[in-house]
Formats: sequence, C-alpha cells, structure tokens
Amino acid sequence: MDAITLLKEDQQKAKTLMTEVAATTERGVKTREQKWTKLLKGLTIHENIEEEIFYPALAQHPKAKDIVLEALEEHHLVDDIVEQLKDTPFDDEHWAAKFKLTKENVEHHIEEEETEMFKISRQVFTTDELEELGASMEASKAGR
Ligand SMILES: [Fe+2]
Ligand SMILES: [Fe+2]
Repeated sequence: MDAITLLKEDQQKAKTLMTEVAATTERGVKTREQKWTKLLKGLTIHENIEEEIFYPALAQHPKAKDIVLEALEEHHLVDDIVEQLKDTPFDDEHWAAKFKLTKENVEHHIEEEETEMFKISRQVFTTDELEELGASMEASKAGR
C-alpha cells in the first residue's frame, strides 16, 4: 500500500472514532473510555510512524520542509491538549469540552495533510518511493 493511502486510511478511522467519542456523555463513561482508548492508541501510532518515517523522508525535499515543520508543531499542540485530557476524569463535565478542542485540532491537522502535504508528496516522491514508505510504515505498525 502506498504511503498516502495508508495515512489516509488511518486518518479516516480516526475521524470516525472522534465522531463516536464526541457523541458520548458523562453518563456513558464506560463507552467513552473504551472509544477514547482505541482512538488514542491509533493516533499515537499514526503520529509516530509519520514522525519516524514519513516526515523525515519528506523533509529531505526543500519545497516540503516548511510544511513538515508546521505539521510537527501541530502534533505537539495536539499532544499538549491530550495530556490535559488524560488528567481529566471521564465523568468530569470539562472532559467533553477538552475533547472537542482535541478533535478540532486533529481535524485541522488532517485537513492540512490531506490537502497541502499529500499534494507536495505526490510531486516530490516517485510512485516507488511512496510504495516503499508505505511498506515501511505498515511494517512499523505491525511491530507495535
Ligand atoms: Fe500528522
Ligand atoms: Fe496524519
């Protein structure tokens, strides 16, 4: 599977799960916890394979460097919000508001990747390179 297809599949799964988590309430703490845990695991692996494999390869190309730097900052921003969310009990009335902020930031980041970043990626990588990067990320995911 090529790198862009793999990352997009992950991102689609995350978007679906985020919508499901957003629909949970303080009264459905168990469902909230289960879905959030699944979402966080997926997002963490996704962020890691991007930072370890996809972004460094992309940053080799001068025209892609700025977008990679911006994406890394967006990852850090999401990480910070997630840390706050981890400190908030699932039945706390602030949980939903903090999650909404997480969701909005992740969605914004995905949007930027799927428009600008992947467009540049198709310009700077060959089809073979995208396949190789996809294979590396798939292998890395499988080993976690
Ligand atoms: Fe990302
Ligand atoms: Fe991504």
